[in-house]
Amino acid sequence: MARPAEKASLDNWYVIDALADIPAGTRPNRLLGRDLVVFRDGESVPVVRERLADGSLGEPLPIRQRWGYLWTTLGTPPRELFDIPEADEPDRRHVVCGAVAVRASGLRIIENFLDMAHFPFVHTDILGAEPHTEVHHYTTEIRRDVDEVWATNCEFFQPQAALSAQGGIMTQYMYRVAAPFQTLLYKTCPAAANRWDVICLFVQPLDHDRCRAHPVMFIVDDESTLTSMIHFQQLIFLQDRIILENQRPRLLPLEPRAEIPTRADISSVAYRRWLKEKGVTFGTAERAA
Ligand SMILES: [Fe+2]
Repeated sequence: MARPAEKASLDNWYVIDALADIPAGTRPNRLLGRDLVVFRDGESVPVVRERLADGSLGEPLPIRQRWGYLWTTLGTPPRELFDIPEADEPDRRHVVCGAVAVRASGLRIIENFLDMAHFPFVHTDILGAEPHTEVHHYTTEIRRDVDEVWATNCEFFQPQAALSAQGGIMTQYMYRVAAPFQTLLYKTCPAAANRWDVICLFVQPLDHDRCRAHPVMFIVDDESTLTSMIHFQQLIFLQDRIILENQRPRLLPLEPRAEIPTRADISSVAYRRWLKEKGVTFGTAERAA
């Protein structure tokens, strides 16, 4: 039997579906190696319960409805869901991009999201292009006050940074890992010089080596259609999926010498150190403690 999820992974909030996708009937779902059922009660409020080993249903789990998603937890999160102040700005487009199933550890997905070095090779002529392959020096830190990992002062030359971009630009980035399986990036907004576009990737770990990724964007762009913005993001993410599903080992190694980092990987080094400090083992190659 697969090793069960540990407390550090359980005590977090996770997206399990877009609210718009929750039908009237009962539907199975999964989180951290455990089976769930989701349905709407008489007032149309979503209800999430665990399907236990004997087939019975557990007590309703805590839920949150935020940013177009249903969040739940199998543990007791010490904190409320993190905040995304930009999401409340009324002139932003809120783009729910649709779930993508990926046969990889959810932690690998977060780590790939933090990685700029792959842009020219995986997202060729969109998020990067040769000969602009160098990752410039950037800063990374574990912010103890908020318990998040940040990478700042990131920049990369991008031929098509967003749908709204006219030609190549040097794009500025900030990365934020708000929880072990939840990450956001802030990037140059081609349509508004003094603001950041916000792209979130909420990862739902189904099992150690299998998950669903839920990308959502809060974008300043009055021109593009919603459909074209969703297609742009899906194209990018499907390019990532090919890489992710071919990475070996499938689980994330946390041992420092398991994979050789380069200077471009300092965000990944900080992320792995932070996971290890927290005791996260779900989706890692760690033996259960
Ligand atoms: Fe990518």
